[in-house]
Amino acid sequence: MKKILITRRLLRTCEDKAKEIFNADLNLNDELYSQQKLIELSKGCDGILSSLTDKLDAETINKLPDSIKIISNFAVGFGNIDLDAAKNKGIAVTNTPDVLTDATAEIGILLILGACRRASEGIESARQGGWKWSADYLIGKQLTGSRLGILGMGRIGQKIAKIAKSLGMIIHYHNRSKLSEDKEQGATYHDNLKSLLSVSDVLSVCCPASKETVDMINKETLEYLPKGAVVTNVARGDIIEDEAMIDALDRRKVYAVGLDVYKNEPNLNPGYLKHKSAFILPHLGSATKDTRTAMANLAIDNLDEYFKTGDCQNKVN
Ligand code: GLV
Repeated sequence: MKKILITRRLLRTCEDKAKEIFNADLNLNDELYSQQKLIELSKGCDGILSSLTDKLDAETINKLPDSIKIISNFAVGFGNIDLDAAKNKGIAVTNTPDVLTDATAEIGILLILGACRRASEGIESARQGGWKWSADYLIGKQLTGSRLGILGMGRIGQKIAKIAKSLGMIIHYHNRSKLSEDKEQGATYHDNLKSLLSVSDVLSVCCPASKETVDMINKETLEYLPKGAVVTNVARGDIIEDEAMIDALDRRKVYAVGLDVYKNEPNLNPGYLKHKSAFILPHLGSATKDTRTAMANLAIDNLDEYFKTGDCQNKVN
């Protein structure tokens, strides 16, 4: 039986499944392992089932025991893992695509709605009670008829586009390449970021974090947006330069943000907290029972497939 380290708790049924297939070391206290502890606990293991909270940088990967052949990440994103370092050490890295598309797109839509319709301020007022209704009280931005710019039209971007279109939004997108017409569903393609941002009343960041996309939304590119645009991010915090975004909120260049992901999670930049127009969530993209179950089962299947065949359809390096 192969031995694996599962770095964080999974839903009970998924841990049971892992224990049936592998000699699985569980993290019963759901402690956030330091890099050193993770290296020590990996001794004697053949694989690691990691989470996005594990920082598997080059230094950590290089110190993993040679017995580790695969890191199966319990996430579609894999910005927490240095893919090249893993490859150089002969470690396969896998992710969990598809199964979280719907849940994450739902949160993407919630961010758009929450930011455009001033949900943070509304929730606070309702909780306090005694608000004074008036014709211009907490007036927000209407989605119907607004232009939605999708940065990264992968699976999640396409699902957000589909729902947003049904809400009456007009869809534009920028991607490395133009999609086929059936995937585009009437959306307008922009072959560069500037062109997309210049028509985005609302921006939805959906692209993976990579060396190319880090700080893509920055001091310079924010200026391409129409004044009073809304910016949402359901992908990874690394894509937005926080100081520039907070400055754009201060200047009202950006009307509101809707964020589920941050640089340096869970310690988001405190500059966001002073803005009532920031609709912020604690990385809930895939947080439904069905989706977390499907993700964990896929992460387990990825390990099993790799151990059995030496390859895996969800290998990303
Ligand atoms: C969630 O953020 C994921 O990448 O799965």
